Amino acid sequence: MQSDTIISARGLSKIYLVADTPVPALVDVDLDVKRGEFCCIVGTSGSGKSTLLYMLAGIETPTRGSITILGKRTDRMSEGQLVKFRRDNVGFVFQAFNLMPAMTAQQNVALPLSLKGVDRFERNLRAKRMLKAVGLEKHIRHRPMQMSGGQQQRVSIARALVTSPDIIFADEPTGNLDSHTGEEIIRLLSDEVRRHGKTLVMVTHDIEKAKYADQIVHIRDGRMIKIENNRQEEANKHENPGD
Ligand SMILES: Nc1ncnc2c1ncn2[C@@H]1O[C@H](COP(=O)(O)OP(=O)(O)O)[C@@H](O)[C@H]1O
Ligand SMILES: [Mg+2]
Repeated sequence: MQSDTIISARGLSKIYLVADTPVPALVDVDLDVKRGEFCCIVGTSGSGKSTLLYMLAGIETPTRGSITILGKRTDRMSEGQLVKFRRDNVGFVFQAFNLMPAMTAQQNVALPLSLKGVDRFERNLRAKRMLKAVGLEKHIRHRPMQMSGGQQQRVSIARALVTSPDIIFADEPTGNLDSHTGEEIIRLLSDEVRRHGKTLVMVTHDIEKAKYADQIVHIRDGRMIKIENNRQEEANKHENPGD
C-alpha cells in the first residue's frame, strides 16, 4: 500500500442471505483511494454501489475481504469501535438528506459536534460558519420543511464537513434533486472537499456526475469492471524511469 493511500480494500465481498438464498451484492473488489482524491463509484441500480460505500464507511460489515482506512483495519473493529471511528474520521451525505425535521439548519449542522462533546457556544459558531460556507447564512433558523431539496442537501453537506473529518462519503447525493440543482451540489461538494484537502468517495448511477472526479470506478453486478484515471496532473506527468 502506498503511503498516500487513505482507503484500501482487498477482496471485498458482501453476500446477503435472502430466504436462505445467497445474494452476492459485491464480489472480490480491490480499491485504493488516495488522500485528497475525489473517487466516484458508478453503476446502474442494483449493481452494489451502496453496499460498497457502506462497507467502506464502516456502516455495513463485509462477508470477506479487508478494509484499511487511515492505517486501521476497520473490518476487524467491533461495533463500538466503528461508531467511534466514524464519528472521528468520516462524514456522510445521503440521497434523502436525512436531516432532523424538528431541528433548524444550525441545530442539524451542530449535531455531530454535540456528539463529540463540543460546547454549545463553539458548536453554534462552527455550524453557522459552515452554513455560510455552503451559501445558507440566511437560512440558519429554517427547518428542513422550509427549505428546497438543494438547500436541504447543502445543510447535509455542512453537517458532514463540520467536524472536519478526513473522508466524506456520499451516496447518490443528487438523486432527489433536479439536474441543475444536482450540478450545483456536486460542484459545491467537490469544491469544499478540495478546499479543505478532504477525500471524497461518491456513488452515482449518472456518469455525467462523475466528471469532477479524479478516479472513476465502474461496477456491474457487484464486480469492478473498469477504473478510469481522470486526474489532469497525472495525465500530463511524465513517467519517471527510476520510479
Ligand atoms: N439488506 C439487504 N438484504 C438483501 N439484499 C440486499 C440488501 N441490500 C442490498 N441488497 C441487494 O444487493 C444488490 C446491490 O444493492 P445496492 O448495493 O443497494 O445497489 P445500488 O446501490 O448500486 O443500487 C441488489 O441486488 C440488492 O437487492
Ligand atoms: Mg444505492
